[in-house]
Amino acid sequence: MADIDRYRTGDKRLVDALYRRVFGIDSAAANRLRWKWQYNNNPHRPDDGPLIWLAREGQTIIGQYATMPVRLSVEGQEIDAAWGMDVMVAPERQRQGLGEVLFRTWDRNVGASLGLGLSESSYRLFQKMRWPDVGPVPCFVKPLTRRALRRPGWSVAANRLLSAVTLPWVRLVARTRPLHGEVRTIRHFDDSFTSFWERVAPQFTFAVRRDAAYLNWKYIQAPHVRYAIAMLERDGLVAGYIVYRHLREARGRVTLVVDWLTAPDDHAGLLTLLRWVDREARAADSDKIRAFAMHAGFRKLLRQSGYFAVKSSMEFVAKINALSLPSSFYKTTDSWHVTLGDSDQDR
Ligand SMILES: CC(C)(COP(=O)(O)OP(=O)(O)OC[C@H]1O[C@@H](n2cnc3c(N)ncnc32)[C@H](O)[C@@H]1OP(=O)(O)O)[C@@H](O)C(=O)NCCC(=O)NCCS
Repeated sequence: MADIDRYRTGDKRLVDALYRRVFGIDSAAANRLRWKWQYNNNPHRPDDGPLIWLAREGQTIIGQYATMPVRLSVEGQEIDAAWGMDVMVAPERQRQGLGEVLFRTWDRNVGASLGLGLSESSYRLFQKMRWPDVGPVPCFVKPLTRRALRRPGWSVAANRLLSAVTLPWVRLVARTRPLHGEVRTIRHFDDSFTSFWERVAPQFTFAVRRDAAYLNWKYIQAPHVRYAIAMLERDGLVAGYIVYRHLREARGRVTLVVDWLTAPDDHAGLLTLLRWVDREARAADSDKIRAFAMHAGFRKLLRQSGYFAVKSSMEFVAKINALSLPSSFYKTTDSWHVTLGDSDQDR
């Protein structure tokens, strides 16, 4: 049987080789680019090294469970938690129970074990192990141009007809709306964002602590993507922020709303930040804007802003160990704040 213990500095080469075998050369190259930032520079990295477990057999590494430690606010209490991320078992050793041993080791050592955007195999394993399934995190799209509604697999003529029919509606939802507040872009989250988080955190039953240290690490220092960030200020105080980026996809240009925070009852605040992103997306020539939102109030505001729900593939599981909670906790997720920015989904 394999021995499971924590990652040590000298393991990097063998872990890289296993990663290449399981996920392929391109993913392994992307992983190497992110690794130091993702595991070593995380402000919640334990003093004794990254929160990664390895399955060893002699000198060989045959499995890994790499996680992202965060602080999690649950019903007003803050606990240690970790997103499960790069989990892998050597192909010739899969389906022999090793994955389950790695999942259980991670779960035993954290106050809450969380998984987002799962592969088919890990989702099935979470289900087999009866992890509370709270997903998927709903996905929303706002069309900005008639290209936004193109359907893959439809003929050019059918897509042209669809564009012509939907154009008046697209123009209506995409029209410019006024900003009701002072919004400006920033390149650093100062301590006032920590105070803001502390003011609004009790209003969510589940949310990763979004203080300045976390936000700077996640959205300013990330080496693999460049984010734009806008903040909303009211009476000299932070009232919210929104993180977004533009990218080209196979079917057009997309603006991703990656993360945001406002008080859930500050409707004007989030609407203003969303309208800011609308302008930025238009300036970047995007065909649509995409966002993921769990919170019922935020979902309502997205709809009010011209977003509509589309099928989401962002599966989400969560298991809180540090607090004793009724099973109903996992069924009432309307006040949970989870976005694309959580875990390492945007990579
Ligand atoms: C996910 C993974 C780590 C699980 O490890 P494992 O050692 O195979 O898992 P176990 O043997 O403990 O558990 C097997 C269970 O996992 C699920 N599972 C594993 N591989 C699966 C697959 N290819 N398709 C569907 N379910 C699968 C099933 O529930 C399976 O139970 P079953 O054999 O009774 O059907 C491994 O499959 C893997 O490395 N996958 C490729 C990398 C990956 O997708 N990582 C997850 C990124 S989010």
